[in-house]
Amino acid sequence: MSTAIYPGSFDPITLGHLNIIERAAKIFDELVVTVMFNAAKKTPMFTLEEKLEMVKKSVAGFENVRVESSDGLLAEYAKQFPGAVIIKGLRAASDFEYEFIMDQVNKNMNPELETMFLTADHEYTFLSSSIVRELASYGAELKGYVPDVIIEDIRAKIAEGGK
Ligand code: PNS
Repeated sequence: MSTAIYPGSFDPITLGHLNIIERAAKIFDELVVTVMFNAAKKTPMFTLEEKLEMVKKSVAGFENVRVESSDGLLAEYAKQFPGAVIIKGLRAASDFEYEFIMDQVNKNMNPELETMFLTADHEYTFLSSSIVRELASYGAELKGYVPDVIIEDIRAKIAEGGK
């Protein structure tokens, strides 16, 4: 059985992430979407639990996708899935520069670990969680940026003072 892991900070999950999930789920027998911490992103808008819930709601329709979280290193986490590959989405050349380094660092810790890249479909190349957070902070329309099922969660977070 082929397994892939799609890790991310998902703060929050966007339609760009969902597009990668949908495409990866067609290629692999099983896809594990893993909500993790990105040390470079110091002040997430959502807690790990909130992000996990939003990802779970968003992928509820996919039979071969499950959602987990981890506060550890990706290279260590992946060892529990022997033979699994990491999936990363690329929107632009700048994403590749960063992901190339991540691949090397992960391979240093776990030489068996392969990363495969899916390029973003053109309608999502501009889309990021940070753009969504900014739009949300101004009360802008979020339809078309994030899965419909999490729009209220984002609105509620803003209402309670989330930035
Ligand atoms: O959605 P993001 O923020 O681009 O996802 C990045 C993420 C969470 C996949 C990356 O930061 C990560 O792998 N975090 C877990 C800790 C880790 O292994 N860091 C890389 C080696 S220093």
